[in-house]
Amino acid sequence: MSEIHVVRKDNRQLYESYFDPYFRLRHDIYVKQRKWMALDRPDGREIDQFDTDEAVYLFCLDEGRLIGGMRAVPTLSPTLMSEIFPHLNIRGPIHRPDVYELSRIFVIPERRGEHAGPRIDMLLLTAIMEYGISTGLTGFSIVLESWWLPRFERCGWKAHPLGLPQTMDGMAVLAVLVDCDEATWASLCGQIGLSKPTLTWRGLAGVNRRALPALSPPARPAVQPARSAHRDAGDCAA
Ligand code: COA
Repeated sequence: MSEIHVVRKDNRQLYESYFDPYFRLRHDIYVKQRKWMALDRPDGREIDQFDTDEAVYLFCLDEGRLIGGMRAVPTLSPTLMSEIFPHLNIRGPIHRPDVYELSRIFVIPERRGEHAGPRIDMLLLTAIMEYGISTGLTGFSIVLESWWLPRFERCGWKAHPLGLPQTMDGMAVLAVLVDCDEATWASLCGQIGLSKPTLTWRGLAGVNRRALPALSPPARPAVQPARSAHRDAGDCAA
């Protein structure tokens, strides 16, 4: 059974043993597999300037094994969009307490695609929406590869472009602002067959958050979003 754990500075000590494997997995996935060589580091860990105390991580754990993850960084702090890709956002910098920037979403190769139970990528997209509405966020900024857009469209994420796509290393990359709202969360839960919130908030009793209700009526049976026959020409920076 896959569980999505919220990991922040307040409870990081409970998850300390996961961080080394987490950064090594990021290196394997982004440097070795995706060939994002700008992220290469001789110690075999992919860590950047946005992995600060302020970063919030979602760790997807299955029987104690880390099988996927995602990072959220407050836009009041420096972000990928503000520091590395400001030219993608022609609307001007986003520095808002209610918007976090998402990046580094991944699923380990053997758990990608169509598998029994909810797809891990869909679970992560649902979980981050739950995190957002629980903690009072209204949006997520993202620098992404254009192939995410049809995926977002299929699962109901409302992504508003902040500028035109630009080609980087042969890949179309753009900046978007995604709505974080309860209707989207409820719809995602329905699509993957969840009838109640899914996040594990271990060690975070002190965090000010809204407890979300169980969903009613009961969620529909799990539906896997259709997979495209072809990969888009885009690739990404997030
Ligand atoms: N380029 C273009 N399309 C891609 C892609 C890429 N690099 N990676 C995934 N996709 C799209 C395709 O539409 C693909 O469909 P296809 O198999 O018919 O081509 C679809 O996503 C399914 O991808 P799949 O890899 O089977 O896994 P998933 O849906 O379970 O998980 C990710 C998607 C992105 C989480 C997973 O591919 C992953 O971890 N990738 C490495 C990390 C990464 O690149 N993250 C995004 C940037 S932060």
